[in-house]
Amino acid sequence: MNHYNIALIPGDGIGPEVVEEGVKVLKAIEEADKTISFTFKEFPWGCEYYLKNGKMMDDDALDILKDYDAIYLGAVGYPGVPDHISLRDLLIKIRKGFDQYVNLRPVELLHPDLTPLKNKTEKDIDMLVIRENSEGEYSGAGDWLFKDKPEEVVLQTGVFSRKGTERIIRYAYEEARKSNRTLTSISKGNALNYSMVFWDQVFEEVGKEYPDVKTYSYLVDAASLYFVSQPERFEVVVTSNLFGDIVTDIGAAITGGMGLATGANINPERKYPSMFEPVHGSAPDIAGKGIANPIAAIWSVSQMLDFFGLEEWAEAVLNTIKQILKENTYLTPDLGGSVSTDELGSHFVELLIKNRG
Ligand code: NAD
Ligand code: IPM
Ligand code: MN
Repeated sequence: MNHYNIALIPGDGIGPEVVEEGVKVLKAIEEADKTISFTFKEFPWGCEYYLKNGKMMDDDALDILKDYDAIYLGAVGYPGVPDHISLRDLLIKIRKGFDQYVNLRPVELLHPDLTPLKNKTEKDIDMLVIRENSEGEYSGAGDWLFKDKPEEVVLQTGVFSRKGTERIIRYAYEEARKSNRTLTSISKGNALNYSMVFWDQVFEEVGKEYPDVKTYSYLVDAASLYFVSQPERFEVVVTSNLFGDIVTDIGAAITGGMGLATGANINPERKYPSMFEPVHGSAPDIAGKGIANPIAAIWSVSQMLDFFGLEEWAEAVLNTIKQILKENTYLTPDLGGSVSTDELGSHFVELLIKNRG
């Protein structure tokens, strides 16, 4: 019997709406497969919690979360609470606190009709972006000097440690080797004369241990161009925290939008729980309407199952997503359909169980 304790942080806006559908999928798997069981514990942390309690999470949140097998998160951030507070005190705090230094973001076209790019098919858009997730431009180091004075100065320091840079680049080489794919590094050494020159140097150094992996190195501006004009150039991609954030939104744009983009925040050593979440935010513009696309959040469930070693179920979930996209009848408005979040989730579960029966 495989038992997993999962901490749920539905969060804000459409977060709770999509997490509900992901949990539905996990519960259906539990019911269909007697060798698997889950326990869920939901935490009310987020912007509403902040407005009531003056903090985004309990003070001992990391202590509470540390013994779970995984964290499943919806989205964080809502008008009324400054974004740098809500995100840094919850999402980024967990990513850093649990040393989830690998952010795995597949950019995969699941159905040819989903891309706005002309003449591109599933074989052209199929990459894994490996984003550094613990430091870099998101280190939070800096200062705000002479605030509100004419001589005001702000400093935001990028922190690229030897350890942090090497481990993410090594992880990417390992992934490329294991899956027999090329590895592309995205950086910006021509302008960022310390951090990105260092990044490029480490990419080359570590590469010497992987002579079997074919590599490319692009500047982030050119890489952004190629994401749109020639996405087939990319297989495994490794990049910094900020660049990874930005290019994976481009990735979402070329594969069907934010409703389909997933990301796993992984602590590879498994010393701490890993966290699974859609790439999208709380989408205040559609929150409360019951029309958010839950597929990104359901794809995160597939990533979670993979991480647990339940590869068959992980694959079944992903195949069912592809089937729904192919059927083209049960889609939310962002994909041109008219079903609700809940209707899509229920239809999903029916198909999944029928497929795996
Ligand atoms: P967003 O991802 O919330 O929304 C961008 C656009 O995509 C909106 O038009 C939205 O309606 C649409 N969209 C997003 N998810 C969708 C879904 N599942 N189905 C259908 N449409 C979807 O980004 P934003 O508007 O820049 O940010 C809103 C808030 O979320 C901010 O507070 C931001 O800081 C936060 N945010 C949080 C996370 C996170 O928790 N991981 C990620 C990104 C943004
Ligand atoms: C993401 C989000 C976060 C990030 C924000 C909300 C802090 O945009 O997960 O892509 O930049 O990492
Ligand atoms: Mn983002």
